Amino acid sequence: MSTISKTLTFDTSTSRANPTPQPMKRLTVPRIRQRKGGEPIVMLTAYTVRQAQLLDPHCDMLLVGDSLAQVIYGLPHTVGVTMEMMALHGAAVVRGSYHAAVIVDMPFGSYEGSPQQAFDNAARLLKETGAAAVKVEGGRVLAPTIEFLTQRGIPVMGHVGLTPQAVNILGGYGVRGKSEEEARSIVEDAVAVAQAGAFSIVIEGVLESIAIEITSKVACPTIGIGASAQCDGQVLVTDDMLGMFERVPKFVKKYQDMAERHWWRGQELCGRSQVPFIPHRRSDLRRLMRRGAKAKAE
Ligand code: KIV
Repeated sequence: MSTISKTLTFDTSTSRANPTPQPMKRLTVPRIRQRKGGEPIVMLTAYTVRQAQLLDPHCDMLLVGDSLAQVIYGLPHTVGVTMEMMALHGAAVVRGSYHAAVIVDMPFGSYEGSPQQAFDNAARLLKETGAAAVKVEGGRVLAPTIEFLTQRGIPVMGHVGLTPQAVNILGGYGVRGKSEEEARSIVEDAVAVAQAGAFSIVIEGVLESIAIEITSKVACPTIGIGASAQCDGQVLVTDDMLGMFERVPKFVKKYQDMAERHWWRGQELCGRSQVPFIPHRRSDLRRLMRRGAKAKAE
């Protein structure tokens, strides 16, 4: 149940983003950590002020995921995400929320070089966004970095299993841990990340047995995505859940079909009722644009 005060007023004369006064205290990293084995943790991605405002009352954590690469910027994968993107979207999500702990993804190339590089960039993200913590992808090899950050005041969320920033090594986004050797390696990664001080770990795209084993072995909460309902919490890419794209991962329940609704409303508004298809594919979109240009010329 939402605990937002019914008397809360929004100061729309100065800003749509900031309710005045702040109606409650934000969830903190230690409080999330204490939820191990308790009430399931809810985390959704958010990239904008408005999305944050709408999701904040319902979430324990808002993740400013580097999935904004595909969702917001139309990039082919997360490798092209920059510090500037994460800092600007992170700050927007913090401005649009007052209840959930906000976690910001560290972009590819901003933390793998050395613990010092990771510290400098993570400190910048926390300063410029006001977020509670950063998330990094990787296992044993990152343990010294995670320890370095947490000992210097930067809470870290880990991310193991399918790690999308490694797409050029993995060759795709298939389920991880199908061989016994890989399964063992993922479990060892998670244990190392937890022992290094991560306050929580995202487990993405692995066989369910692996997620269950990790959840039982590590002291911090696990957050599953395409992993297991038995994790301590779940995370989803909000735009997938809302049906903003025609293709969504199998494990995602689509609560809406927003792509289709945008299409029909757009068609109504623009009066192009003769167009009989939904341009989800690029080739369809190009065909639609050619038709529009031809109609204009006639
Ligand atoms: O970038 C992201 O949205 C993520 C989630 C899929 C966990 O890392």
